[in-house]
Amino acid sequence: MGIEKKKYKLPVGYSLFQTMLKTNEFLNNPIKFISKSMVAFSGTYSAVLGNKKLILTQNPEFINYILKENNRNYEKSEFVTKRAAKFFGNGLLFSNGDYWLKQRRLIQPAFHREKLKGLNNLMIKSIDDYLLELPVGKNIDIYPLTHQLTFNIIIQSLFDIKLSSQIMEEIHQIFTELQDFLIKDLNQPFRQFFYPMTGTERAKLKKAKRLREIFLEIILKRKESNKQYDDLLDMFLNSKYEDTGESMSNEQIVDELLILIFAGHETTANTLSWLLYLLSTNKETTQKLTDSFHGSTIHECLNNEYLKATINEAMRLYPAAWMTERVAIEDDKFGSYSFPKNTIIIPFFFGLHRDKNLWNEELNFVPERFIINNKVAKLKNYFPFGAGPRMCIGNNFAIAEMSFFIFSFLKKFQIQATGQIPEMKPLITLRPDKVILNIKRNNNL
Ligand code: HEM
Repeated sequence: MGIEKKKYKLPVGYSLFQTMLKTNEFLNNPIKFISKSMVAFSGTYSAVLGNKKLILTQNPEFINYILKENNRNYEKSEFVTKRAAKFFGNGLLFSNGDYWLKQRRLIQPAFHREKLKGLNNLMIKSIDDYLLELPVGKNIDIYPLTHQLTFNIIIQSLFDIKLSSQIMEEIHQIFTELQDFLIKDLNQPFRQFFYPMTGTERAKLKKAKRLREIFLEIILKRKESNKQYDDLLDMFLNSKYEDTGESMSNEQIVDELLILIFAGHETTANTLSWLLYLLSTNKETTQKLTDSFHGSTIHECLNNEYLKATINEAMRLYPAAWMTERVAIEDDKFGSYSFPKNTIIIPFFFGLHRDKNLWNEELNFVPERFIINNKVAKLKNYFPFGAGPRMCIGNNFAIAEMSFFIFSFLKKFQIQATGQIPEMKPLITLRPDKVILNIKRNNNL
């Protein structure tokens, strides 16, 4: 320990003993606790968890260094690549190293903006169907509804076929159950000790196996059919590795399908729910948006700068990925800090996006801050989709989906705030607890 202290210069922060003492405070409200610590330690601090060193930071240069400049020295932790992967497979989000790179290169082209145009009509159709059924009235919790919508959209984009409502329900239910199980594992790792006795993990693995069987059956059916589809599954089936010219195996495709559902539906549902809440409490922005839609088609809304800025501002205040994690492969240093290999680094996007030293009116909803010379500008302290080579592969997909939704929603409905402020639930993603709104159909419809 004495030698380590001399060799490395970690940021100031909490010792092992202090970290242990503060565990409950952290678990009760991680965002509040980390934000408070960021103020106390000027934006970067260390903690010690068992034999692991942690550095948490909201310094944009440090985050950029880890995720982009020196990304080769950082990988995802074992919690992700072993524990989560045990249930959801080794798709993009849950893999590391050469395998991740090979998969990313293969899958990336399917997510280019031009390629995604093929999915636009599928998204719009799902949104139209959903809005037909949207309940109107007082005190409606919009969160479960956006969750259902984004789930339908991702499934429809993966497989352009009609799955029975029973299968849809089964997939959704297993996903939610496994995600909740993992969250508990993450917050209370000691629970894993009891699993062999209680059989809990075995039961969850059985559910995960069932999920894989459903997807495998869809893949096999697709392979037998001669029909062409404009969906992501067809893109995966037709993609070939550069070096071997081979396609992905069925099991690899299942892994990637699972990951796209995992990464792609809750993040977008959270963002849409926060956005609707913000619009309900910011009448001026909502009116400006509605005005900006006059005379334009739904496809044109992808070029609407004010809509882009509004979505950006919602993701600044409520980044669905409120933090991420990386592990140092070798010793490294940044500025005056130095730290050993295996140090876990936590970029805290939530704190960065609300740092009063970096943003004016940091707690206010001001979409205009993103517009420079009538265009949405890339701001350097803003990381809603991460950064570097592991940046979100679905960012254009998510923006298209949210844009189509807001356009269609505001054409058909009005929202009013209810005075109930949604609570933040920082789980794997930043969920709102409930988003209670008054929803009214527009008179002209
Ligand atoms: C508002 C919606 C979304 C947000 C805020 C979001 C955010 C992020 C962030 C921050 C990362 C990087 C995590 C890290 O560096 O550790 C990420 C990765 C990823 N996202 Fe998204 N995401 C969204 C929607 C989507 C959608 C719709 C899809 C798929 C259709 C998707 C698929 C992925 C995948 C596969 C990765 C892993 C990429 C890799 O490691 O190579 N995401 N996302």
